[in-house]
Formats: sequence, C-alpha cells, structure tokens
Amino acid sequence: MQKFKWGIIGTGMIAHKMADALLLLENAEISAVLSRKTETAEMFSREYNIPHIFTDLEGFASSNVVDIAYVATPHNKHRNEARACLANGKPVLCEKPMGVNHAEVEELTAMARGSGLLLAEAFWTFYYPAMQNALALVEEGAIGQPKMIDARFCFLREVDPANRKFNPDLAGGALLDIGLYCLAFAQKVFNAQPVSVKGSAIIGPTGVDESSAYILTYEGGRMATLSSSFRAVTHNDAWIFGEKGSIKIPMFWQPDEFTLIKNGKEKRYTFDRLGNGYTYEAMAFMNLLVENQKESHVFSLQDSLDLIKIMDMLRKQWGLQYPFER
Ligand SMILES: NC(=O)c1ccc[n+]([C@@H]2O[C@H](COP(=O)([O-])OP(=O)(O)OC[C@H]3O[C@@H](n4cnc5c(N)ncnc54)[C@H](OP(=O)(O)O)[C@@H]3O)[C@@H](O)[C@H]2O)c1
Repeated sequence: MQKFKWGIIGTGMIAHKMADALLLLENAEISAVLSRKTETAEMFSREYNIPHIFTDLEGFASSNVVDIAYVATPHNKHRNEARACLANGKPVLCEKPMGVNHAEVEELTAMARGSGLLLAEAFWTFYYPAMQNALALVEEGAIGQPKMIDARFCFLREVDPANRKFNPDLAGGALLDIGLYCLAFAQKVFNAQPVSVKGSAIIGPTGVDESSAYILTYEGGRMATLSSSFRAVTHNDAWIFGEKGSIKIPMFWQPDEFTLIKNGKEKRYTFDRLGNGYTYEAMAFMNLLVENQKESHVFSLQDSLDLIKIMDMLRKQWGLQYPFER
C-alpha cells in the first residue's frame, strides 16, 4: 500500500476537520503543517502528532516531507499557496473556492495542466456516496428530465468584521463561502453552463454579501433558484424537480440521505458516513495519485473554472470587488 505524506496549510476550522479525517485513513499520514506562527503550528502538531512544522511557504512547498499539499486558509490565500506547491512539484487539494476570481483559478488550472500535477478543488459534497447516488438516479432518468432546482445554504453568524466570512480583505461574503455549494450543485445536476445568471445581494456593513440569491436559466427550459446567507436560520435542503418526480436532499452539501418522490410515493435512501465526511475527498485524491490521474472527474478543473466564472458574473452585477482586486 502506498502511503501519502500530507502537509496542511492553515490551522483553522477546516484544517482540523481534514486532520481528523486523515487520521482514519490507513494510507494517509499527516507529516507537516504550515502556519503563520510557530506557536500555532506547534499547538496543531501536538494535537495531531505531526512531525514537521513550517512557518514559511517556500520551505513547506519545497520540502520532501510533503507528498500532498492541502490548502486550508482564507480564500484570498489559495492562489499563492497552491501556486507555490505546484511550482515545487506538489499535488494540491485546495479548499473551495480554488481562487477568488476566474483569473486566479485559470492560472492554477493552467499550471496544473502544464506540469501534469494533480490539482483539485476540495468540493467534498460530490464525493459523498449519498450525493453520487442521487446524481446517478437523475442521470438514469428516475425523475425524467430535471427541470428545476431549488437549493439554499444558510446559517446565522453575528457580523464580525475580523472574521473571514465578513472581511472583504479575506474575500468574505456568502457567495464565495457557501453560495458556491448551491451553484456547484446546479452545475453538476444539469451538467451544463447557464445561459443567463441573475443575482441579488444584501451587502452588509463590512462591504460583502451577507445574503445573496441567484436565478440561473439553462437551455432546455431548465432553471435553478438558489440562495445563501450568514444572517438567517433556514432549511438547507436541495430539491431537484423533474418531469416525472423529484429528489430532496437534506443538508445537501454534506448529505447522508435523500428522498425520491414519485407517483405519490416516497423512497428514502440513507448512507453511513465514514468519519466526518472529509474522508471521501481525501481517499479519492489519493486514489487519483495511485492511478496517476491528472484531475478529478468528480469535480474537474473545468468544473472549477465554470463555477468561478458564474461567481465573477454575480459579483460584477452587485459591484462587489474585493479591495485587493482594485
Ligand atoms: N469544505 C468545507 O466544508 C469547508 C468548510 C469550511 C471552510 N472551508 C474553506 O476552507 C478555507 C478556510 O476556512 P476555515 O473556516 O477553516 O477558516 P479559519 O477557521 O478562519 O482558518 C483559516 C486558517 O488560515 C490561516 N490564515 C492564513 N492567513 C490568514 C489570515 N489573514 N486570516 C485568518 N487566517 C489566516 C490561519 O492559520 P494560521 O494562523 O495557522 O496561519 C487560520 O487558522 C476557506 O477557503 C473555506 O472556504 C471549507
């Protein structure tokens, strides 16, 4: 069995989740962590028994104790960190969004394609068995032609200008943080690019979208109505409505179940979760390396490019430019 040495960039919420997931995987070893501060790196390394700590990106990226770089920092840092790792020959699993705008994602995807290195956006949702089974049912025609999608991802957070979710300097806002799950879901279900994208946003006091909604139309009379918010507690279901039935996926970005509703009957499909669910994307990434594949077919580089293009369009409609983009 080939064992992979993972290096984690960042020590925040998602870095912990991924570290917890990696501990469950026999072919993964957490070998290194990169933090802005030695103390934080030491704390994280003690928690997960990590042998190597770094505080400089170049040292981390060029080190031979890292086989896979996992980028788990605020959105605006992904490009530089992923770029440094790719430039040093490291495969990269990069948290979503891969970059803040299309230019950044294009630069990374071109680099990966040019060098033949594996790069993938960490869209854990699409590696879940429940999601893969739901999408397979749609593909098989279980609900006829899918025509309408409803999806939302919302929760309540107090406005905090320092928090990356609200901080424009860290590319905050609901769209790039959680709205993208809704957009990616519509993209994977319809397997198409929209012909029209219309959005509306409530820009909060920190200058980013606290709440935003998007209506996308596609060829073939298909439509998606999507929304995301940091300021409301809502249901977080996704629905796919077809000509012959529908599928409801509760907590669709981390689904353990879905329900097929057809001919007046409901059939519920449930799935066990392996660990905290971040396991699936990590396993898939290592399998791709074993198979010498250059990209994920679950969420491809083209998927990442298509997705960020839509987010650029929406932000343009709202006049939401981040300070570092001006
Ligand atoms: N896939 C998912 O389910 C999921 C869930 C949550 C978040 N994410 C993604 O993961 C990324 C990180 O999110 P998170 O929730 O883990 O964020 P977080 O808790 O704020 O952690 C981010 C980490 O990045 C490092 N960092 C580097 N520069 C920073 C800066 N200027 N300000 C703050 N932190 C900085 C920090 O580690 P050091 O102090 O050690 O440098 C920090 O702990 C985001 O891009 C987000 O979209 C994905």
